[in-house]
Amino acid sequence: MEATVSSAVLQRDVPLHRLNTFGLPARAAWFAAIDSQDRLAALIATPEWRYLQRFVLGGGSNVILTGDFDGLVLHARIPGRALVAEEPDAWLVRAGAGESWHAFVGWTLEQGWPGLENLALIPGTVGAAPIQNIGAYGLELAERFHSLDAVDLETGERVTFDRAACRFGYRDSVFKHEAAQRFLIVSVTLRLPKDWRPVAVYAELARELETAKIAKPTARQIAGAVIAVRSRKLPDPAQIGNAGSFFKNPVVDAAAFARLIARYPEAPHYPQPDGAVKLAAGWLIERCGWKGRWFGAVGVYEKQALVLVNRGGARGQDVLRLARAIQDSVSDSFGVELELEPTVV
Ligand code: EPU
Repeated sequence: MEATVSSAVLQRDVPLHRLNTFGLPARAAWFAAIDSQDRLAALIATPEWRYLQRFVLGGGSNVILTGDFDGLVLHARIPGRALVAEEPDAWLVRAGAGESWHAFVGWTLEQGWPGLENLALIPGTVGAAPIQNIGAYGLELAERFHSLDAVDLETGERVTFDRAACRFGYRDSVFKHEAAQRFLIVSVTLRLPKDWRPVAVYAELARELETAKIAKPTARQIAGAVIAVRSRKLPDPAQIGNAGSFFKNPVVDAAAFARLIARYPEAPHYPQPDGAVKLAAGWLIERCGWKGRWFGAVGVYEKQALVLVNRGGARGQDVLRLARAIQDSVSDSFGVELELEPTVV
C-alpha cells in the first residue's frame, strides 16, 4: 500500500525482515526510502513528519529488532562515490550513506587509494560506519575519517561533523548518545594519506600474511588477508543471520584486571593508554561454555563466541534472552559486565 504525500513516498506496514542481517521479523508502520536529500526535504515538509517517531535504518547489520515499530523507518539509500580533493599528502574520498561499505573499500583500492583495506568485508553501509566507529584488524574508521554531512531531522538543516564533533570511541560516537536518531547521515568523507604504511600488527592478520609468504604487503594483499581471516571466523549474514560482534570487548580497571589475570593467566588482554585493560569478550563467553550452543533458533556461533546467530525463525526477544543469560553468566564467573554492541530497537 502506498500513499503519496507531497513528492515524497511513504509506504505503510512494511516488513523489515529482509532489511536486517539478523533476519528478525518486525514491521514498520510507516516506511520511506531516502535516496536523495530532496526526497528527505520533501518528507520533512509534510504535516505527518512531526507526529511520527522515526528510526534511521542503514544496512541493518548492527540492529536487533525486538518488535513492530510504530513510527516511520527512514531507509538511508543515498548513493554516490567520488574523489572530492587531492591534497599534497592525502586523497579525500566521499561516499553516499547508502553505499555498501565493503564495495566502497574495494573501489578505493581499485582506484589506487589505499588506507581502508583493514576494514574490508565489514557488513553494512557507509552511513552506518561512523555511528559505531567500525574497526577491525588494527584499524578504526576514526583514523581515516575526515567529516560527514548529515541532515538534522528536527530542523531540516544540513550539518557537517568533523572528527572531533563525532566524539569517536571504541565502537562509539556521538550518534549513539545525544545525537542518536536526530540526524540522517548523507555522506561520509575519508582522508587517505599518501604516505601509506601497512597496518599488520594484529596477530592473526600478521600470521595470515606470513603463511602466504608476503613480507611487504600491498594494500590489496592486506584486504585479501583480512577477507580470508574474517571469512573463517565470522558468519556471512547472507548465509546465517547475525549482527557481527554481539558484545563489546569489556574494559576493566587495573585492579580488576590484576585479580582476573592471577586466576586466568591465559586470558587475552590489551592494555589501554590510560592504564585500563580491554578483555576479549569472546574468550570470557567461551570459558563460560556458551560457544556452539543453540536455544531453539538462536545460538552462539561455533567459530566465534562473540557472535550470536539465527538459524531461521528467531525473534528479537529470543536473541535478547540469550544475550542476558550470557551477560549473567560472565558476570557471575568473572565479575565482568558485558555491554551489547548492536542497537536494540
Ligand atoms: N577468543 C576466544 N574464543 C572465541 C572468540 C575469541 O577465545 O570464541 C579469543 C581469541 O582467541 C583472541 C581474542 O579472544 O585471543 C580476540 O578474538 P578475535 O581476535 O577474534 O577478536 P574479537 O575481540 O573477538 C574484535 C572485534 C571484531 C573485529 C575483530 C578483529 C569487537 C567487539 N569485536 O573481535 O569486530 O572484527 O576484533 O579486529 O571489538 C564487530 O564489531 O562486529 C566485529 C566483528
